[in-house]
Amino acid sequence: MSLNIKINENYFNVKKNYLFSEIAKRVNAYKTANPDADIIRLGIGDVTLPLSPVVVEAMKKAADEMGDAATFRGYAPEYGYDFLREKIAEYYKKFPVNLSAEEIFVSDGAKSDVGNIVDILGDNEILIPDPVYPVYLDSNIMSGHKVKFIAGNRENGFLPMPDGIERRPYVIYLCSPNNPTGAVYGRDALKKWIDFANETGSLIIFDSAYEAFISGDYPHSVYEIEGSKTCAVEICSFSKTAGFTGTRCAWSVFPDELTVGENKLSFLWSRRQATKFNGVPYVVQRAAEAALSDEGQKQCRESIAYYMENARIIAAVLKEKGIYFTGGENSPYLWLECPDGMTSWEFFDFLLEKAQIVGTPGAGFGDAGEGYFRLTSFGSRESTLKAAERLKKLL
Ligand code: MLT
Repeated sequence: MSLNIKINENYFNVKKNYLFSEIAKRVNAYKTANPDADIIRLGIGDVTLPLSPVVVEAMKKAADEMGDAATFRGYAPEYGYDFLREKIAEYYKKFPVNLSAEEIFVSDGAKSDVGNIVDILGDNEILIPDPVYPVYLDSNIMSGHKVKFIAGNRENGFLPMPDGIERRPYVIYLCSPNNPTGAVYGRDALKKWIDFANETGSLIIFDSAYEAFISGDYPHSVYEIEGSKTCAVEICSFSKTAGFTGTRCAWSVFPDELTVGENKLSFLWSRRQATKFNGVPYVVQRAAEAALSDEGQKQCRESIAYYMENARIIAAVLKEKGIYFTGGENSPYLWLECPDGMTSWEFFDFLLEKAQIVGTPGAGFGDAGEGYFRLTSFGSRESTLKAAERLKKLL
């Protein structure tokens, strides 16, 4: 007999599979049908370089502490150990941004925070750039929220602006450098968003997970922009910066100035985390702390430089072939126009069948992504060079 309870029907309004699960499913089917295929995976943005030596050393030391009764630790504080919150606050000083450790909340991933923040917000109108990281949309649909899209396209350089948007309060998601397009907001453009948010009483959820890939003169943190502390939460991560996709550590910033009436938004977040989250493992937080040390930063920058050289290798092929693309300069992603008017899933199949290369169809990031395709530079050098050769022959 079936259950006689109510379920969250909103789950039937999202696509049946999460984008990267759908890709994995299709690639596995291809692999089963073609067991000898030498598949190059440039789809999901998963890192391939190992953790930096200084990070591994910190993890080992922390593991030893956990194995000694004198230094063993149980539950981690739900908002993060002070040593890590303080280290993150210190990291922001170089931008330069002043934050207190209490405004920083450590978590197990930017994806979790982006999805979970919906818990503390009511039924607001949501503004989501299109194309963008699918978690913003999916998590709001799952909560039954009304979403309005702001289209990124070739004309606006995939950087939608608030001009022409009806002035009322929204929850606005911004991702810069953008996943998937690699486009980055400059200071003036970001200031326009901050002004719009402050004037309308809107909240900006600013995803800066790719800030460490910025090499040009662009803001790394939304808090570099005047007025942002009264309207923006920032979510950042160690995943891409320090190779933590499998290690899991991130943080969200809830500035003290961010209030709804008398209530600090940080109160709701801390209350949510205290009830629903038991903290990030000690070993992982020590590893994250090491990634932010001077030596850790140096080693992380070496890994980032390696990935950005991969981006340059792919970009060179696209340039040679005259294919329009964005990204690859301040971001590990290249966002290209599908050749010959193919749809993005048609191009996905074409690349997989003809070159055994996996990428991510633009339509998976929103309707405005149709006709575009994302390649990641997070592969190994060897596989990136091989992919570049195959692309040269095919395109
Ligand atoms: C991506 O490929 O867009 C990312 O790896 C997804 C993520 O960070 O969750």
